[in-house]
Amino acid sequence: MKILITGGAGYIGSHTIIEMLETTNWEVIAVDNYSNSTEDTYERIEKITGKAIKYYNIDLKDKDATHKLFLEHNDIQGIIHFAAFKSVSESVANPLMYYDNNINSLLNILACQKAFKVPYLIFSSSCSVYGNINELPVTEETPFNKTESPYAYTKQIGEQLVADFIKVNPALKAISLRYFNPVGAHKSGLNGELPLSTPSNLVPYITQSAIGKLSQLTIFGNDYNTKDGTCVRDYIHVSDIASAHVLALQQLIKTPHFPSQSIINLGTGVGVTVLEVIEAFEKVTDKKLNYTIGERRAGDVAAIYANNDKAKKLLNWKPIYTIEDMMRSAWKWEQCLNKK
Ligand code: NAD
Ligand code: WQD
Repeated sequence: MKILITGGAGYIGSHTIIEMLETTNWEVIAVDNYSNSTEDTYERIEKITGKAIKYYNIDLKDKDATHKLFLEHNDIQGIIHFAAFKSVSESVANPLMYYDNNINSLLNILACQKAFKVPYLIFSSSCSVYGNINELPVTEETPFNKTESPYAYTKQIGEQLVADFIKVNPALKAISLRYFNPVGAHKSGLNGELPLSTPSNLVPYITQSAIGKLSQLTIFGNDYNTKDGTCVRDYIHVSDIASAHVLALQQLIKTPHFPSQSIINLGTGVGVTVLEVIEAFEKVTDKKLNYTIGERRAGDVAAIYANNDKAKKLLNWKPIYTIEDMMRSAWKWEQCLNKK
């Protein structure tokens, strides 16, 4: 079985490749254009797994180059399409860049899936598709609200594109996985998230301020209607996200009656506040974080967490890592980066 991973040098793609190499005998090929990653990722993957994979520097917006890759590998059986831009604030500042990259690369992948009869596709979606909602936990049936950003809208459109496409191509199947807040790093501490600029997400901000790269962490508001006033999110270990992708492909392959298209939440089902994340980090690292309380951040919802029953049932998946595991591994990775 040959599987194509797009965005393979990125955060979730690389952890998924590791999981795949460690738990299956599938042949993995990866594509990335290093717009938000570097080629070194593949060395880290090799160090962890002892396996080298074939990888390509291709911009998936480039239709011809994408087609050429599928010509070279006309026996691909499954695609996991991670490649996309993912910064909410950047998408607000530069919407055209986000629509161009996230939509055009998906269109090219779908065209090749059809042309080369690739039976299975997994599409990276996001809990941001739900927009600002009040009903918790969020199930896959919870209606969307208006999205908070062009980024989130590219994911709504992406899901719809995949659904419309699969409807008229009955030989093909797809799953859109809606990730909540993926955090943490491989348990070895040798691979993790590599923000190329100042991070906007909480966990890399925590680890970078703990190691001294950033002077202070600001908590964006403590006057929300939550148990301690700070926002609630569903943080999920990146390796649990990775294992769900492998299981999703396995289910598609081995279950003939698996729905031709489905949408599945990937979260732990547990809501955790910003202060609880900080507490977990301080507990496992024995370090005190320098933080202050600031203003609310525009676009933040007070609370969101998943109902993950569908993932458990359809994929036979269960997240295994705790918030402490997430913090421990993220800190190990930050220390590893600092040694370089
Ligand atoms: P990432 O930026 O680390 O990885 C994405 C990779 O895709 C990067 O290596 C980037 O260089 C590559 N890429 C982007 N555009 C490309 C193009 N046109 N051609 C080839 N390569 C391209 O991001 P990630 O956190 O690993 O996210 C993976 C996917 O999961 C994305 O689709 C993202 O929207 C989605 N997602 C991420 C999160 C999160 O918090 N990390 C949450 C929900 C959904
Ligand atoms: C988490 C919490 C902040 C930084 C984003 C995307 C979402 C999905 C996951 C891609 C919030 C607070 C943060 C800081 C803080 N990604 N915070 N100080 O916004 O929940 O979700 O990533 O699909 O689409 O929107 O994640 O890590 O930015 O924030 O207090 O310096 O931490 O207010 O409550 P978010 P985040």
